[in-house]
Amino acid sequence: MALRLHSRLVALNVAAMGVILLLLGYFLATSLRASFEAEIEDQLLKSANLARTYIQMHTGSRDSVDLAESIADSLQVRVTIIAADGRVLGDSDLTRDAIAGVENHSDRPEVIQAREIGRGASIRWNATVGVPFIYVATIFDDGSVLRLAMPLGAVENLIGGLRWQLVLAMLVAIATALTFGYMVYAVVSRPLRRMADAFHELAAGNLNSEFPEVGDRDMGVMASSLNAMARSLRGKMEELQDDKMRTEAIVAAMSAGVVVFDREVRVVLANQSIRQLLDIHGDITGRLPMELVRHPSIDLAVREALRGSDVPPIDLMTGSGRILLAKAAPVRTLSGHAELVVMTFHDLTEVRRIERMRKDFIGNVSHEFKTPLTSIRGYAETLLNSELNSKERDPALTREFLGAIERNSVLLQALVDDLLVLARLEAELPVERQPVRIRELVEEHVQTRMPQIREKDIAVEVECPAIEIMADGSRLARAISNLLDNAIHYNRAGGHVRITGRVVSGGFALDIADTGVGIPQEHLARVFERFYRVEKSRSREAGGTGLGLAIAKHAVESQGGSTSVSSKVGTGSTFTIFLPAGHESPAATSA
Ligand SMILES: Nc1ncnc2c1ncn2[C@@H]1O[C@H](COP(=O)(O)OP(=O)(O)O)[C@@H](O)[C@H]1O
Ligand SMILES: [Mg+2]
Repeated sequence: MALRLHSRLVALNVAAMGVILLLLGYFLATSLRASFEAEIEDQLLKSANLARTYIQMHTGSRDSVDLAESIADSLQVRVTIIAADGRVLGDSDLTRDAIAGVENHSDRPEVIQAREIGRGASIRWNATVGVPFIYVATIFDDGSVLRLAMPLGAVENLIGGLRWQLVLAMLVAIATALTFGYMVYAVVSRPLRRMADAFHELAAGNLNSEFPEVGDRDMGVMASSLNAMARSLRGKMEELQDDKMRTEAIVAAMSAGVVVFDREVRVVLANQSIRQLLDIHGDITGRLPMELVRHPSIDLAVREALRGSDVPPIDLMTGSGRILLAKAAPVRTLSGHAELVVMTFHDLTEVRRIERMRKDFIGNVSHEFKTPLTSIRGYAETLLNSELNSKERDPALTREFLGAIERNSVLLQALVDDLLVLARLEAELPVERQPVRIRELVEEHVQTRMPQIREKDIAVEVECPAIEIMADGSRLARAISNLLDNAIHYNRAGGHVRITGRVVSGGFALDIADTGVGIPQEHLARVFERFYRVEKSRSREAGGTGLGLAIAKHAVESQGGSTSVSSKVGTGSTFTIFLPAGHESPAATSA
C-alpha cells in the first residue's frame, strides 16, 4: 500500500529481470558445463586409446613408472597404470616409493566401469588440489587399466566468468529499470501526485490552489485546462459570495423584521430588527417559530408556506403590546420545491396609533362643532318661529337669543382658528431657530392683554434677563400667548401673574405662574391633550376651545423643547417652557 504506482512498476521490473537472469544463468551454466565435460571426456578417451597403443608397443623395454611419466609429459595429464588386481603400477604424479604405498584402485568408479565395458569415466572432487578432476580409464587385454586424469579448473573458470557477466548484466538491468522508473516518476507519477494534491486543496475549498503545469505535453494541457476551470470556479464563487454579502446587508438593514426558516422549520437567518420587534436577545438560529412568537398561527403559516401554499398575512400582538403584521412566503428551488420560508414582520404599532388618534380627533372635532352649532340652530329656529308668530314677539328675548348666537359663532370661529393653527404647526416644517429677545417678547404679550389684566385687577410681574435665546420666534410667541391667556383667564380677580425667565443647565426656562383656581392632580397629566378641559361647560362658556395648551405644547416640542405644569387647587398653577440651548449658536445667551 505504501508503494506508489511507479515504485511498484520499478520493483516488478527488477524482480522480473532478476528471475530471468537467474534462470538464464542456471541453464547456461548447466548446459555449458555438460557439453564442455563431454568434449573433454571425449578428447581424454582418444588420448587414452593412443597412450594404450604406445604402452603396448613398449611393454617389456620400459617399466610402468617410466611409461606413465613420459605419457604424462607429452599429454600434460596425470597418468596412472593400474594392474588387473587393482595395484597401482605407475603414476605420473607420484614417486616410486610413494607408488608402493598407494591403496588399491579397484574400487574407483572409472576403473570398475572400464573393466565392465572397456572404458570408463568419472568426475570427482579432488580435496588435495581443491578442484574437480575428470578421470578416464581404458582396459588392456591382460586386465590392467590405464587411467588419465586432468583438472576441470578451466570449465569452472569459464562458468565463473559467465556468472560474473550475468551479475553485471543484472546490475545494468536494475540500473535501467531504476532509470526508467525515475522517468515514469518524473514525467507521470510526480505531476500526477502534485495534481492530486491540488485536487485535494480544491476539494477542501482552497480555490487559490494552482495545478502545476509539469510533466509531458498532455499533462501540461490537462493542468492548464484544470487551472482555467479553477479560475472560473473562483470567479463564480466570488460572485456568489458578493451576492450573499449584498443580500445579508440588505436583510440586516431592513427595518422590517426578517426570519428565514428551513425545511425543519428552524431559523437559519434573522436580522437585528426581528430581535427588537420580538424582544429577543442573543442568537435565534435553530429556534422554532413557537419559540419566537407564542402564536400558533405563525407556526401554522410557516408550515403551510413550506408545503407551497399561499399564506395570507397575519395580524398579531406581542407580549410587549406591539402590533405586528406577519407574512410568510416560500422560497422555491429550481425544481419548484419550497426549500425555505421567509417571514417578514412589519411593526404596525405606530401606524395603528396614528390611525386611532386621527379617528379620535375627527370624532372630537365633530363633537366640539356639534354643541355650538346645535345651540345656534335652536336659537335661530326659536327666533324664526317668534317672527312668524308676531304675538309672541319679545324684544328682550330676541336680543338674548341673538347674543347667544353671536357667542356660539365666536366660539366656532375660535375653534376653526385654533384648528388651523394646529394644522399649520403640524405641516410647517422645519422650524427656524433664530436669536429671540425673550424679555421683549414676553413684555409685548403682556402689553397686548392690558385690557383684560386691568379688568380683573391682576398684578403682572416680569422677571427676565435681557438676552437672546435660540428659538423659532413665532412658535414661541404662540406658546407664551396661550399660557398667558390661561394665567389671566383662570386667575381670580385681584390675583398675580409672575413670569420668570432663567438660564438653566442645557438651555432656557420660562415659568408662567398664576394665583388662579389651580388644576386638580388627576387632570394634570391630561391638560395638554387636544380638547381636554377640567371643566368642559365653564371653559366653553368662556369661549375656550380646549386647544390652547395642545398648541403651546406642540409649538415648543417641535423645536426640541418641552412643557410641564405644577399646580395646587385654590392656590395657583405654574406652567414651564424649556428650550434647549441651540447648537447653531453656542453663545446665544449673550445679550
Ligand atoms: N392657568 C390655569 N389655571 C387653571 N386651569 C388651567 C390653567 N390653564 C389651563 N387650565 C385648564 O386646562 C384646560 C385646557 O386649557 P386650554 O388648552 O388652554 O383650553 P381652554 O383654555 O380653551 O379651555 C382648561 O380648560 C383648564 O381647565
Ligand atoms: Mg386656554
